[in-house]
Formats: sequence, C-alpha cells, structure tokens
Amino acid sequence: MELMEAMKNRHSVRSYSARKIEGDVKDKLQQLINDCNKESGLNIQLVLEEPSAFDSLIMHYGKFSGVRNYIVMVGRKTDDLDEKCGYYGQKIVLYAQQLGLNTCWVGVGYKKTRNAFIVGTDEKICVLIAIGYGNTQGKVHRSKAFEQVCSVSGTVPDWFRNGVEAALLAPTATNQQKFQFSLDGNKVYAKPGIGFFTKVDLGIAKYHFEIGANKENFTWA
Ligand SMILES: Cc1cc2nc3c(=O)[nH]c(=O)nc-3n(C[C@H](O)[C@H](O)[C@H](O)COP(=O)(O)O)c2cc1C
Repeated sequence: MELMEAMKNRHSVRSYSARKIEGDVKDKLQQLINDCNKESGLNIQLVLEEPSAFDSLIMHYGKFSGVRNYIVMVGRKTDDLDEKCGYYGQKIVLYAQQLGLNTCWVGVGYKKTRNAFIVGTDEKICVLIAIGYGNTQGKVHRSKAFEQVCSVSGTVPDWFRNGVEAALLAPTATNQQKFQFSLDGNKVYAKPGIGFFTKVDLGIAKYHFEIGANKENFTWA
C-alpha cells in the first residue's frame, strides 16, 4: 500500500480485537520507531500487551475498547516537542496502516501505568497512539474545504492543492483542522491556530502535506 493510499484509508479506530502485534509486523514497527527516535531525538516507545492504560470508565465512555497496545510519544520539554511528536507520530501511524494495523491518537484520559514506559526527568509525555488490529476500519471524517485552511492568491499550483488536500485527510484533535497553509513562490507557510493540541495537529498535517505535495516541489518557510 502506497503512502497516499494509507492516508486515504486511515481513520481513527477505537475498538480492537485481541490479535497480538507480533512477528514481522512487530519487528518492522519497532524498527521504524527506532529510526524516528534516531532522526528526531524523541523517546517514542512501543508498549505491547498492556491494557490498563485504557481500562477506565472515561476511556470506555470515550468508546475505547480492547486497547492492549499503544505508542507513547515522549520527548524533551522543548518548544518544538508537540510539532515533532505530530510529525513523527503520523509517520508511524501511516506505516502501521501499511502493515495492516489501525490506530487512534489519544490526547486525554489515559492512565500513566507505572513501569510500562520510561519518561526521563527532563522529558514529558506529549500524546499516546492506540494501535492494534481494529474491529472496524473507522470512517471518513467531516472535513473543512480547501479555501478554509489556506490563503493563496493567483494561480494555485497543483502540488500545493494536493498538499492541502492531503493535510485535510489528517487526524486532528476533535477533528478541529485549525491549521492554515499559505504560499510564497515555492515556500510554504504552515500555522497551527489556537487551541488544544494544535501544534501536534500541525506536525501531523505537515507530514501529510509533504506526501501530497512531494517534497521536491517546495521548502518549508
Ligand atoms: C492530537 C490528537 C489528540 C486526539 N485525542 C483524542 C482523544 O483523546 N480521544 C479520542 O477519542 N480521539 C482523539 N483523537 C482522534 C480525533 O478525534 C480524530 O483524529 C478526528 O476526529 C478525525 O477523525 P479520523 O482520525 O478518523 O480522521 C485525537 C487526535 C489527535 C490528532
């Protein structure tokens, strides 16, 4: 499955089967996480067969069921932590989709299970990603229109339109899609908007934009 297809097929899934993440799938996922950590300096951790983080009334009320595996997005407390977690987290999410897994970003409500993962003294948890074999494939989210998330004048290059359309497929907290894209020559500006997790959303949207627009066509401002 190509990344473009993975972006279109991915939807948040909150109900999971008991099928374990194991063998080749587990090894490949762990390898990508190691690569992302090396490249980003983050401390992303895969936690398997640990149901207690999602085993609470609030998570069941939030429609989560059968979550036994998750990815913890941990990193040093720097200004760019949220955006970095969004960017690398979504890279992992789309790879997981290619491996036949399902995911859901989770910002609130989970339990921080002792000894399940490590958070250094100068680090913090940014968000979690539930992962596993879903009972469904989720459903397409309602989306803003192209014009609502970008300001461009004159002729819009195809690659820019494709980038924005890809960003509109991205998961955002409460489906808020508050990001804004604009263009100056081949320089692309991306802004987060105001609200909870908007910088994480921006990192996610930028990863999608890069796939849709093709990195060779532009540079980030
Ligand atoms: C940063 C972030 C935090 C999120 N937190 C939660 C959450 O706490 N609980 C939840 O059920 N969904 C959460 N979501 C999932 C969004 O609700 C979901 O991505 C959005 O509704 C769009 O739907 P889609 O992912 O199916 O495209 C979060 C998504 C993001 C990107």
